[in-house]
Amino acid sequence: MKLCIYPGTFDPFTNGHLDVLARAAKLFGHVRVAIAIDSTKAPLFSPERRVELIRANLAGLPNVDVVSFDGLLVEFARRQQAQAIIRGLRALSDFEFEFNMALMNRHLEPQVETIFVMPNEAYSYTSSSLVKQIAKLGGDVTKFVPANVATALREAYAV
Ligand code: COA
Repeated sequence: MKLCIYPGTFDPFTNGHLDVLARAAKLFGHVRVAIAIDSTKAPLFSPERRVELIRANLAGLPNVDVVSFDGLLVEFARRQQAQAIIRGLRALSDFEFEFNMALMNRHLEPQVETIFVMPNEAYSYTSSSLVKQIAKLGGDVTKFVPANVATALREAYAV
């Protein structure tokens, strides 16, 4: 059975991430969402909380699980014996960063292929940092994230 890793910071998980995940789950026998502990970002939610927030949205995706990892992504993928890493490409602006990361990962571990999928265009402008900015300023984010994530954001930014 082919295993694919869907890595990210997921701070927080958005409807766009969920869309990519559902597409990946159709292509692979198993998909493992991998939350990076060593992300260069300064996340709002702890890795454990991000795992919980994603897990609650996996009904209907029986071949998906969620873990966190530290260290290099390709080392994690190798340990898991994954065949592929999947990433979402929302727009041209994602391309350069994703292209560099995919080539660097290929250089580090030639056996693991990076595969890109395009989320539904309705999510092309959704990003975790924009969602956090809106939530912090009291705006409505319910169209962009699952309900449990919207609640968690409201609680995190409650004064
Ligand atoms: N829908 C909505 N938003 C999406 C999206 C989609 N389909 N795809 C990407 N995004 C957004 C995210 O919301 C996020 O927005 P933000 O930057 O405003 O917060 C951004 O695009 C990307 O975040 P995410 O999808 O969570 O991934 P990431 O780019 O933070 O992940 C890692 C990067 C974790 C994969 C990378 O840092 C890594 O591999 N780290 C491990 C260490 C390592 O191996 N480093 C060497 C890499 S060569």
